[in-house]
Amino acid sequence: MTLSIKNEAELTEKLGQVIYIAGSQWGDEGKGKLVDILSQHYDIIARCAGGANAGHTIVVKEGGESKKFVFHLMPSGVLHEGKMCVIGNGAVVEIPTLFEEISMLKEKGVNIHGKLKISDRAHLLLSYHKTIDGIQEDRKGDSKVGTTKRGIGPCYTDKASRIGIRVGDLLDFDHFAEKFRANAERHMKVYGFELDIEQEINYYKDAIESIEPFIDNTAKYINESYKEGKTVLAEGAQGTHLDIDHGTYPYVTSSNTTSGGVSTGLGIGPNKITNVIGIMKAYTTRVGEGPFPSELPLKEAEMLREQGAEYGATTGRPRRCGWLDTIVVKEAVMLNGLTSINMTKLDVLTGITPIKVAVGYKLNGEKTDYIPFSLKDFENVEVEYIEMEGWTEDISKAKTFEELPENAKAYVKKVEELVETPINFIGVGVHRDEMIYR
Ligand code: GDP
Ligand code: IMO
Ligand code: MG
Repeated sequence: MTLSIKNEAELTEKLGQVIYIAGSQWGDEGKGKLVDILSQHYDIIARCAGGANAGHTIVVKEGGESKKFVFHLMPSGVLHEGKMCVIGNGAVVEIPTLFEEISMLKEKGVNIHGKLKISDRAHLLLSYHKTIDGIQEDRKGDSKVGTTKRGIGPCYTDKASRIGIRVGDLLDFDHFAEKFRANAERHMKVYGFELDIEQEINYYKDAIESIEPFIDNTAKYINESYKEGKTVLAEGAQGTHLDIDHGTYPYVTSSNTTSGGVSTGLGIGPNKITNVIGIMKAYTTRVGEGPFPSELPLKEAEMLREQGAEYGATTGRPRRCGWLDTIVVKEAVMLNGLTSINMTKLDVLTGITPIKVAVGYKLNGEKTDYIPFSLKDFENVEVEYIEMEGWTEDISKAKTFEELPENAKAYVKKVEELVETPINFIGVGVHRDEMIYR
C-alpha cells in the first residue's frame, strides 16, 4: 500500500495523467463528489459508459447556502471553469435529457459554452428505447431487473445488433430520418406500441442546430490532448457489480462499468491509465433487484437509509441498505485494478454500534472469497461478519485522519487491511470540503 495523499495540492502529482473513478459496489457510492473535487485539478472530464441511468450528486456551498446539482449525462466536472467535458463513444446519449441538464445549469448560472464535446460515435438513446425498457420490465414480471427505465438496455441492444443510430448520424439528417423510421417501425411491430414517428424526427431536426457544435471525434481529441500533456479524468457510472460482464448478471446494467470500459468507451489505451480510484460507501446500498448478501431487513436498514438519505438520485426509489461487504469490494479491487479507495459517507455510521463488516462467505459449508456465479448460490451464501465498536462524536468537521475518533480510525484501518488497498480519501459529509486526505 504505497499511495498517500496529504492534501489536494498533491493530487495530480500523485495520481498521474489519466485516472478512472470507478464505483466499487452497486452504484451511488458517491462518485460525483470526488469527480467534482478532482476536476479542479484535471483538464478533461469524460464519461465513458452508461447514460442517464446515472445520477451523480454534487453539493456546493455558495454564500452560506448549499446548491445541489444532480447530473445524469453531463460529466460532473462541468461546474469548473476552463475544463473540457466529454461524453465518450461508450456512453449512450439522450438528447432531451442533455438539454434539460444544460438548461438546469444555465438557471443556476453555469454556462457550458465551449465546455462540452460529444462523441460522434456515441449511440443515441431514443424515446422508443425507453418505451421498450418499460415493456420488457413489465413482461418480466417477478423477474424484472428493476431498471431505471431510462432505455439503457434497449439502446445498447440496438448497438450490439448493429442497427443503432449514432450521434454523428444527425449530421446527415436524411440518413438519420431513414434509420429512425426503419428502427421505430421494427420496434413498434415487435413490442406493440404506438409512436408518432414524424413528430420525433422533427424534434431532432430542430435539435440539430443546438447539438452540432458539441459533436466531435472525441477519441482523437483526447489522444491529441494527452500528447500535449493534458490530464484526463474518466468518470465512472454505476458500479463494478452492475457491470454487464462482471456484475451480478442478469441484475446488471448493459455496459462495462469496470476500468476496461475506459479504453473501449473513450478510445484511450489501457497503458495510459495511471491510477484507478474505487469509490466505496462505508456501508452498502443497492437500487433495483438482485443479490445483496449483506443486506439488512427493511426495519434494520431504516437507520442507514434515513441517516444516509438513501433515495435514488435518478428515480427517487428507496435504496436497499446493508453492511459493508469486503468480498464485494475486494472483487472490485481485482476487476478494476484499483490503486486507491475513497471511503464515502463515514459520517453516516456515527451513532451506530456495533458496526458489522462482511469478511467472508460460506457456500455449502465451504469458505469462499469470491462472488458466486449463480443466483441460486447467492441464495445459499452464508455471510461471515466481524463486529466493530462505533462512535458517537460528530465527525463532519474533521479535516485530518488524526482528528477522527479512535473507533472511526480503527474502522477505516480494518477495512483498508481487508480490501488490501489504501484508503486515501474519506468522505465525512456531502460538501466538497468534507473530505479527509491521507
Ligand atoms: P454517485 O452516483 O456515485 O455519484 O452517488 P449519488 O450522488 O447517487 O449518491 C451519493 C449520495 O451521497 C449523494 O447524495 C451525495 O451528496 C452523498 N454523499 C457523497 N459523499 C458523502 C459523504 O461523505 N457523506 C455524506 N453524508 N453524504 C455523501
Ligand atoms: P450511478 O452512476 C445505482 C441499476 C438499476 C438496476 C440496474 C439496471 O448513479 O451510480 P438500467 O437502467 O441501467 O438498465 O438498470 O442497474 N442502476 C444503478 N444503480 N446507481 C446507478 O448509477 C445505476 N444505474 C443503473 O437500479 O438495478
Ligand atoms: Mg447515483
